[in-house]
Amino acid sequence: MRRGRWVALVLGLLRLCLAQANFAPYFFDNGVGSTNGNMALFSLPEDTPVGSHVYTLNGTDPEGDPVSYHISFDPSARSVFSIDPNFGNITLIEELDREREDEIEAIISISDGLNLVAEKVVILVTDANDEAPRFIQEPYVVLVPEDTPAGSSIIKVQAVDKDTGSGGSVTYFLQSLHSTQFAVDRQSGVLRLQPGATLDYEKSRTHYVTVVAKDGGGRLRGADVVFSATSTVTVNVEDVQDTAPVFVGTPYYGYVYEDTLPGSEVLKVVAVDGDQGKPHRVLYSLVNGSDGAFEINETTGAISVTQSPAQLQREVYELHVQVTEVSSVEGPAAQAMVPVTIRIVDLNNHPPTFYGESGPQNRFELSMTEHPPQGEILRGLKITVNDSDQGANAKFNLRLVGPGGIFRVVPQTVLNEAQVTIIVENSAAIDFEKSKVLTFKLLAIEVNTPEKFSSTADVVIQLLDTNDNVPKFTSHYYIARIPENAPGGSNVVAVTAMDPDTGPWGEVKYSIYGTGAELFMIHPITGLIYTQPWASLDAEATARYSFYVKAEDMEGKYSLAEVFITLLDVNDHYPQFKKSIQKEMMVLGAPVKIEATDQDAEEPNNLVDYSITRAEPANVFDIDARTGEIWLKNSIRSLDALHNITQSGDCTWSLEVQAKDRGSPSFSTTALLKIDITDTEVASRKQSQNLSPGNWVPESILLFFLSNCLLNLSNVNLYSRIFKGAAQGS
Ligand SMILES: *[C@@H]1O[C@H](CO)[C@@H](O)[C@H](O)[C@H]1NC(C)=O
Ligand SMILES: *[C@@H]1O[C@H](CO)[C@@H](O)[C@H](O)[C@H]1NC(C)=O
Ligand SMILES: *[C@@H]1O[C@H](CO)[C@@H](O)[C@H](O)[C@H]1NC(C)=O
Ligand SMILES: *[C@@H]1O[C@H](CO)[C@@H](O)[C@H](O)[C@H]1NC(C)=O
Ligand SMILES: *[C@@H]1O[C@H](CO)[C@@H](O)[C@H](O)[C@H]1NC(C)=O
Ligand SMILES: *[C@@H]1O[C@H](CO)[C@@H](O)[C@H](O)[C@H]1NC(C)=O
Ligand SMILES: *[C@@H]1O[C@H](CO)[C@@H](O)[C@H](O)[C@H]1NC(C)=O
Repeated sequence: MRRGRWVALVLGLLRLCLAQANFAPYFFDNGVGSTNGNMALFSLPEDTPVGSHVYTLNGTDPEGDPVSYHISFDPSARSVFSIDPNFGNITLIEELDREREDEIEAIISISDGLNLVAEKVVILVTDANDEAPRFIQEPYVVLVPEDTPAGSSIIKVQAVDKDTGSGGSVTYFLQSLHSTQFAVDRQSGVLRLQPGATLDYEKSRTHYVTVVAKDGGGRLRGADVVFSATSTVTVNVEDVQDTAPVFVGTPYYGYVYEDTLPGSEVLKVVAVDGDQGKPHRVLYSLVNGSDGAFEINETTGAISVTQSPAQLQREVYELHVQVTEVSSVEGPAAQAMVPVTIRIVDLNNHPPTFYGESGPQNRFELSMTEHPPQGEILRGLKITVNDSDQGANAKFNLRLVGPGGIFRVVPQTVLNEAQVTIIVENSAAIDFEKSKVLTFKLLAIEVNTPEKFSSTADVVIQLLDTNDNVPKFTSHYYIARIPENAPGGSNVVAVTAMDPDTGPWGEVKYSIYGTGAELFMIHPITGLIYTQPWASLDAEATARYSFYVKAEDMEGKYSLAEVFITLLDVNDHYPQFKKSIQKEMMVLGAPVKIEATDQDAEEPNNLVDYSITRAEPANVFDIDARTGEIWLKNSIRSLDALHNITQSGDCTWSLEVQAKDRGSPSFSTTALLKIDITDTEVASRKQSQNLSPGNWVPESILLFFLSNCLLNLSNVNLYSRIFKGAAQGS
């Protein structure tokens, strides 16, 4: 309708022009390229920028009148151009979009003021690459069985691009160019499993694959552009029955204890279908190794013992358990096998026990003679030891506790049971005289168990005596001293010998023999030595005797000792001064010496003590009681002091000196000593008159030494040497 009115208007205008007889203006229209001016065959890219000068209308008027140009649009459409009426230059004023509007209709007109000529034109909008591909039918989620063969197609993705030509063509590829499992068809968008690739539900249950859609590229606003889009395909892997059942919690070990009741559960095996998506039920069974001692619950996998532990023959059972999947599908059932080790544990509740000939026993007795030969076995002892546990629990050590090194027990290590043997190791130590009873503890103690169970048994050995000892004197020698005037039958010395053996083996009989024994007798039982009743001892004739004494038991085992007898000196001599009156010269500061000897043979009879009993005119002297040395008292240092004492100035002093022996009773003698006191000068003047003291000093020392030594009873060697020398000499 509208169009009809518009055409009527145009026709009316034409009639008006003709009526004026003025020629109407017209557009140049050469029909060739762009040289025409009426927009014929004019097209415009959709990406032409707004404000661009896109065309210039060109026309003329036959009368040469100036012309003006106009352009107009259907009121329902957008006005996309504006025009300069004077010059006809057309400017784009609205964005173009080929995908919405691919041609523009417009009326262009030219007017000379009188006539107006209008033409309808169609302007083509040409494509630019301004559209991106777009995926359709998103999201892409697909469920794929894990056993899908390699190369299979999984899903087809599709993207569209509204552009035309290259800019509107779409190709596909994967974002991860190196995907090993999937590939997409470039043209069709079909997603496939790569050749050689498989899916595994057990490894990965979902894969996310990013697909890119890309157009072929084209020009947009003066540049070459390519558009793309991405989409993610979610590939869910579907589990299929492709995995055997799997035992969990392996390896399996079970233990049966001594107190485990028959029917008790020992352990449980558990297997699960490897296909965890839709697991099958599983059933358990025993394959072998149980010997009827165990059974398995086919549904729970619980293994229980069917017999009492005591009936079980073996220490270790190696079972094989099989699990089978229960499936409705035909074909071989998936199976798995697992070994199960069941150990019969001995609880070690038995200590080792000693047995005698008639059952358990913890005391064993035996009588035997002392000193059995080394290595002898005590056959009288019948001891068995056993431990009724098993294996390591029945291993124990045997030990003999008591005095060490006497006996040895074998074996030292026992497994289960052994005969106990006791062997003599040290014969000398098995001595009746040391102990009549030997007591030991036999100890059996477990080696490898934490409890270390043990038990003991007493071993009591009564020893029987033998004559294994000889009588033994209390000393190797006896020394006796008797006074030379002892009457006949006097006791001299008692000797003793011991024999620890019992009975006649321990009874000792004494006798004496040897030269020198003639004057003496011994009591055979008491060992008392005495002089013969008729004997008259004479020290002057023989001062010393020696002989042997013998102690002998009833079997003639004997030993000897030596007896030394010395006749004891009697104090029957007086000390004797050399002279009863002596004269001595005393030099100031030096002593004079007086000496007496005692002819008695021994101390103390021959030991002499000196003393001053009288002094004239006064006692200005000290005497050494042992040596007889006489000194001036300390207070007197000079002749003057002496003269002051005597008043008279006389220097001759008169002393009575006593020598007294230490015998009992004691004897004493006195001597008179006259002393002239002088000083050094006088002494040296009188030196020629001075007498040497003579050779009495060494003589007395020798005597002293000799008596001292003879008295020293502990100095036996020296004593006997001197004694023997004297005896040989006599
Ligand atoms: C219009 O067309 C004529 C004839 O073809 C030409 O000579 C003239 O230059 C054109 N004018 C413009 C502005 O293009
Ligand atoms: C049209 O062209 C003329 C001459 O080139 C110019 O002077 C004028 O400004 C133009 N008009 C528009 C609206 O661009
Ligand atoms: C028990 O069966 C397993 C599996 O077949 C086998 O390896 C094993 O040797 C068998 N044991 C015995 C004692 O037969
Ligand atoms: C196996 O164990 C289940 C569950 O404890 C029990 O119900 C079933 O009776 C047992 N089967 C046998 C054969 O003992
Ligand atoms: C241990 O040994 C004794 C003696 O040989 C025997 O009577 C007893 O039965 C044994 N006990 C065990 C548990 O073997
Ligand atoms: C001796 O006696 C006289 C008179 O009594 C005294 O003066 C003098 O010191 C005495 N001399 C000595 C050495 O004691
Ligand atoms: C006797 O001899 C011992 C050791 O030989 C010695 O110690 C002791 O002094 C001596 N006794 C006498 C009185 O000589």
